This record gives sequence, structure tokens and C-alpha cells, in this order.
Amino acid sequence: MLVNLKKILAPAYEKHYAVGSFNCYSYETFRGCIAAGEEMGAPVIAAFGAAYLANMSLETAHAIAASLAREADVPVCLHLDHCSEIDVICRAIKAGFGSVMYDGSALPFAENVANTRAVCRAAHACGVSVEAELGSLGVGVDSHEGRAEDVEQYTDPEAARDFIAATEVDALAVSIGTVHGLYKGKPYIRTDILEEIHRAVDVPLVLHGGSGTPEEDLRACIARGIAKINVNTEISSAVVAQTTQLLTREKPHYSTLSLRQVDYVKTVVKKYIELFECR
Ligand code: 13P
Repeated sequence: MLVNLKKILAPAYEKHYAVGSFNCYSYETFRGCIAAGEEMGAPVIAAFGAAYLANMSLETAHAIAASLAREADVPVCLHLDHCSEIDVICRAIKAGFGSVMYDGSALPFAENVANTRAVCRAAHACGVSVEAELGSLGVGVDSHEGRAEDVEQYTDPEAARDFIAATEVDALAVSIGTVHGLYKGKPYIRTDILEEIHRAVDVPLVLHGGSGTPEEDLRACIARGIAKINVNTEISSAVVAQTTQLLTREKPHYSTLSLRQVDYVKTVVKKYIELFECR
């Protein structure tokens, strides 16, 4: 069944596990993500990024997710990932998304607050949850998000407290050293900053840039208030690498290739569900 983000994250935050948010932009990614949740008996977040509107419309993304979620026995949240355009957010709410991320992290604090608050008012009136972001992530290797010139800026715990009080967001994405894409060197995750943020606010926290983050760091983050972890690059890399290998050995019918790709997606999603201890 489709649910909003608040419903999926409340028990995770309380019981210290995280729900995986997996980027979906094709039938194979939606089906692999939701089937992995179903097979593991775990809730999942299918995240359709505003960057993937060329792949499918918001309405198509909702139709696919709603149909697959109806057949699943686990809660599924259809979430709009990284969106800084308020008209796209309004269209996602209208299309039936259960959650939207308003990303005003590049704006001055006051403007980010004002826009996020406006989004919360509209979304909450429709039963839709809102995630926002403070601080910004650096960009790693093979990322399809962010720009090469993105500069890492850690989230300030006091600013986070003021931001939550002023906006009433349901979840806050923080910057503590993860990157969008794969790490260029050894990751240095600032769990000390996360701990301060967790002490300052009382909403579920979100970790972007899950791909390639070491297991021990993920566990330390989950113990300090992270209840949603985003994974994109690793799913794409796995599907592309395995498809390439397959095509050197066989020339399958396209319908068979599609089924194999669902399995490739599922394998990565299941690995993360296991790590996030959300069963
Ligand atoms: P990765 O591509 O590093 O997994 O990050 C995904 C993400 O944060 C989606 O918003």
C-alpha cells in the first residue's frame, strides 16, 4: 500500500532503524525496489527524482508505483526527490505522491525557510509529508546528481533547530560528509556533528549519498537519528555493469533483459535493507 513519509519514518526513528530510499525512474527500478521490500518484509521509499522527468511524467511514476504497491504487503512511499521548483512540487502532490523534498539548500537561510514553510502548508493540507535540506553535499564519482563544483558544507545544528521550528518539516536531510556518488577517497563521516543535530531537533534525519558508505558509518548514523537513507548511484552502476556482462555472453530478448534488470536492482536494494536493519 502507498503511505506518506511520516507514517514510514515515525517507527524507524523511534526504534532506531532506517528505511531505504531508492531512486526509481523506470519500470525496472520501481519493480525491483518494491519487490525487494516485499521479499524482505520491509517498508521502502521509491524516490522519483525531479531530475528524471525526461524518463517519465509524475503521473506515470505514480501510476506504476501505485499499481505495484497495491500488490505489495509492505508500506511503500512514493517520494519526490530533490526538487527546487515549487510548481513541480504542487504537480507531484496533485499526482498523488506521499512525500516531496523541497530542496532550498542553495538559497540563503531565510529564503529556504520561507519556501519550505509554504511547501509544508500546502503539502500537509493534502496529507503529504515534506523533507527539506540544510547544508550541502559534495559530489563523488559517477553521480547523476549534484554538480562537479558542489562544495561540501556541513549542517549547522543550531540552524537545524531554528529551521525545524520555523518550517514544521517532517524530515531533514543533513550534510555530514557523505557525497552524491561514490567516494573519491576514504569517507570521513562526521557522526559528531550528526549527534549534535540529533540532540538539537526532534524529527527523523535523512542521509543522502548512501552509495558506498561503509557499513559501520551507516550503523553509527542510524543510532544518531538517521531514519531515511538515499541510494542511487550504486543501483545504476550495478545494473549497467551486469547488463554489460550479460550482453557479452548472450543476446536475450528485450523482455528477458528487463526481467534480469529487475533482479539486478533487487539485489542492491536487498543488501541495503539488510544493512539498515529495517525488518
Ligand atoms: P548516491 O547516488 O550517492 O547513492 O546518493 C543518492 C541520493 O542521495 C539521492 O538523493
